[in-house]
Amino acid sequence: MKKWLSTRAPAGRIAYVNGRYLPHGQAAVHIEDRALQLGDGIYEVTNVIGGKPIDEEPHLDRMERSLRELGIAMPMGRAALKLVMREMIARNRIPDGLLYLQVTRGASKRDHVPPKDAPRPTLILTMRSQDLAALAARLDKGIGVSTQPDIRWGRCDIKTVQLLPNLLAKQAAKAAGAFEAWLVDDDGYVTEGSSTNAWIVDEGGTVITRDLSNAILPGVTRLIMLEAMAEAQMKVVERKFTVAEARKAREAFISSATGAAVPVVSIDGQKLGDGVPGALTRRIRDLYAAKAGLKNA
Ligand code: PDD
Repeated sequence: MKKWLSTRAPAGRIAYVNGRYLPHGQAAVHIEDRALQLGDGIYEVTNVIGGKPIDEEPHLDRMERSLRELGIAMPMGRAALKLVMREMIARNRIPDGLLYLQVTRGASKRDHVPPKDAPRPTLILTMRSQDLAALAARLDKGIGVSTQPDIRWGRCDIKTVQLLPNLLAKQAAKAAGAFEAWLVDDDGYVTEGSSTNAWIVDEGGTVITRDLSNAILPGVTRLIMLEAMAEAQMKVVERKFTVAEARKAREAFISSATGAAVPVVSIDGQKLGDGVPGALTRRIRDLYAAKAGLKNA
């Protein structure tokens, strides 16, 4: 059995499922859970630094929105959920890591139509440490992206657990020697990364990221970065950009809770600019870090 799946919980890792804190390897959901059977659920990921969930309120705002859009009830009130999050951080003894929250429509007889008498939503929390050395290397050296067709559905603004197109794109990107996939719509515009938002900086130093719509996830890191950039009076435009435009950009980067403003230094194997992380990307990372209360960013 894989180490992380062992019923002898590795180093006391704890998961939370529907009111119970359990050794990670023993935590389980019902086989009729609608997320397993039908992908009927949503998730959130927050970075945890110094024992504190980063950008906690906007992540919970988005979680509530995702649930509302799908007609799934919040499994508990926000204050109670925040207590569970803190309990998870404490029990796992991971002050710096990633906290995952999943909410599904619950377990019921398999049927495409959600049951009239809504089952109790399933709430799952798991935690793991981040490979900070690997992240530091990405920040230092930058990453490559590989453009892939965006074959996802029409509601990419909802953070659902249905991630197959994202996985396939990331797998293809990896096979092409890149770290992330940039998803491209039918008109040649970049929507976002497989698990990140996409940004470029043009020749004049204007920062560009796609405007919000059903085509992309409203990234929390994106939101806080935009606020930080507005406060710093940086030039920012929210609009879509093509792959051709990205290739000519001065800088590019990706953003997510798992890595703020990670520099992009190549697109489809072609060097971007001089092929090293850009100064504005660094500045945006610092601005974000200061606003979000990250240390050592
Ligand atoms: N992904 N776009 C997509 C498709 C994402 O899955 C994510 C996050 C983002 C960035 O959102 P945020 O800044 O709120 O993390 C954009 C998470 C980290 C994941 O799936 O692991």
